[in-house]
Amino acid sequence: MKMFPNELVLPPRTIFRKRAVVDLFKECAVFGKRGVLVHGRSFLASGAFQNIAETGMSDVAVKTWQHPGGEPTLHQLEVLLSEARAHHAEWIAGVGGGSVIDLAKACAGLLEATRPPVAYHDGAAISTSKIPFLVAPTTAGTGSEATVVCVLTNSETNVKKSFRHPSFMARLVILDPELLAGSPPEVIAHSGMDAFTQAIESYVSTGATWFSDQFSLKALSMIFSSIRAVFENSYSDKKDDLLAGSYLAGLALSNARLGIVHGLAHPLGARYHVPHGLACAVCLPHAIKFNHDAMGVKYTIMSETIGGDLFLETNRMIEDFNIRSPFAGQSILGEDRIIEETLASGSAAANPRKVTETDVEYLLKQIFAG
Ligand SMILES: [Fe+2]
Repeated sequence: MKMFPNELVLPPRTIFRKRAVVDLFKECAVFGKRGVLVHGRSFLASGAFQNIAETGMSDVAVKTWQHPGGEPTLHQLEVLLSEARAHHAEWIAGVGGGSVIDLAKACAGLLEATRPPVAYHDGAAISTSKIPFLVAPTTAGTGSEATVVCVLTNSETNVKKSFRHPSFMARLVILDPELLAGSPPEVIAHSGMDAFTQAIESYVSTGATWFSDQFSLKALSMIFSSIRAVFENSYSDKKDDLLAGSYLAGLALSNARLGIVHGLAHPLGARYHVPHGLACAVCLPHAIKFNHDAMGVKYTIMSETIGGDLFLETNRMIEDFNIRSPFAGQSILGEDRIIEETLASGSAAANPRKVTETDVEYLLKQIFAG
């Protein structure tokens, strides 16, 4: 196994501290006076914004932009970009869940780009971005705060996919566990299952290295040992471990890629308008079964790490979190396109077992069985 990937991309600075988010604008001011803060719907009501604004609002000229909700789209990014350009933003900050972070990251990454976002979504070469991006996740999570990847949906074609550039990496990641407090159990379960899936998929990916394995395994153990407590009570001190585990899974996936769960979750999520973490949770047991032999000794190591059989424990989590499949019993809409998009994804390409058209067809049949 290789020690390192060909290129290591890591956040240059991460602050992990309770209430660290109150220093956000002070940190932003280092990069310039004018900026945009992208946030989610619950952010203003949570009181977090008032706390941030009290400390350092005078140093910056901030335009706030609220993500309207749902999975992030290219259209939302276009609106955000035009407002950020009109504001002459010198930096972009994102405080929110994965959707908010991906939109804010893409806004910073493409603020000075010459073509519309759809061109880059379709594969056009991305130039190096000089716009600083600062981030504080409020869920644990997609791990997007630790990656150079943006996952967005083209709502005209229903194609959900990622685009990336090393310069998209956040200049500053603020991990403030207090931001998780008050999250609904459903959000903790869905985003936590995404992080759990990412720890597993990055660990067994064909792009895994000794370096990424350290993050993947630690993430797996931290997420597994904390998620139930935070699901039951989002004020639990275990949220520190869940947030750290999610961040570590992000570091791992950013340097190792993912697997078939993410290959399937993107086309399914876009068509059925299912939250990403929920799609991951539902696909995960089928993928673990499918990949069992190809995972080899790593399956045993993961089971030992969580103190139980990986497949059984995954199913137990799904049951404990009352996760119901939104796909079960439904008909598979546009199956050929779903198969095509799954096979075209970088995630499917990094799956430990080679994935064929027949395999995706089989997995879809399992996932949609009533
Ligand atoms: Fe994910």
